[in-house]
Amino acid sequence: MSLPKVYITRPLPAKAVERLAARYDVKMRPEDAPLDPAQLAESCREIEGLMATGVRVSEDVVAQAPRLRAVANVGVGYDNIDVAACTRRRIPVTNTPDVLTETTADLAFALLLAAPRRLVECDRYVREGQWQSSKWELLWGSDIHGMTLGVYGLGRIGKAVARRARGFSMRVIYYDVVRPAPALEAELGAQFVDRETLLREADFLTLHVPLTPETHHLVGARELSMLRPTAFLINAARGKCVDEAALVEALQSKRLAGAGLDVFEHEPHVHPELLSLPNVVLAPHVGSATARTRLAMAMLAVENLVAGLEGRRPPNLVNPEIYA
Ligand code: 8YV
Repeated sequence: MSLPKVYITRPLPAKAVERLAARYDVKMRPEDAPLDPAQLAESCREIEGLMATGVRVSEDVVAQAPRLRAVANVGVGYDNIDVAACTRRRIPVTNTPDVLTETTADLAFALLLAAPRRLVECDRYVREGQWQSSKWELLWGSDIHGMTLGVYGLGRIGKAVARRARGFSMRVIYYDVVRPAPALEAELGAQFVDRETLLREADFLTLHVPLTPETHHLVGARELSMLRPTAFLINAARGKCVDEAALVEALQSKRLAGAGLDVFEHEPHVHPELLSLPNVVLAPHVGSATARTRLAMAMLAVENLVAGLEGRRPPNLVNPEIYA
């Protein structure tokens, strides 16, 4: 009997691949590069399990993979997967929550520190040999301690960012569509406010929502106009949650003090105007990018895929309706 075929869309750590190879006929794409939908569909024709990293699994791909029985996304956000198409075929779809929470919160907080203290500008100043004498007015930034952090979305990562803010003596306010329990609010020292208050009072607005039709352009021209002109926007969630053109306009017209961005509306394309704005710190979607966390993500995705292929309910199932 031939082994079920599994396709891995990008190189993953050897430990994760070995676990799969012990059970399945595994093919891993050697290039760490995007895959167009036609190529992905071609590679999925015969497979039963898909480890999806940085690819879009469209309805077409699913339709052209008649034997597909499990899709494991290596990432917590699964907006790249047509979950509805999988659900119609009763294919379990899984993600990798928890293991990347703290690492992503670290990066969000790093952006939150780097943007107001102008760390990238400071670094450039020193490297370029511009530091020739001491100056009283050199590269003044904005304080972080004692300021108000507005957390938009108090899920796993939002909470981890709120915890970090306590160490910086910040006031933490948050808005979410679901309100966490009072005990948790007390532990985090986070105060629930309505959306408008969040926008109006935050010195730092940090986004921690998944990308859904409801959160697309969650921050647009209107929301940006409600922020303080001294405020900073931090986004380590999804680029499409922000109207990037409106953000550029707000930054250029100084209606917003700055931004720290790990994600972009049309990745890997970055709005050209963002590249020339000194008050923006840019990162190439590296929120979860540490060796330890990437290994944990890959191992968790393997565990999910194996469960799905063995007919067990995977630990991180995102479409539980398939078992209803
Ligand atoms: C990954 C992410 O870089 O987990 C997520 O949602 O955005 C990142 O951790 C991405 O999923 C690539 O696989």
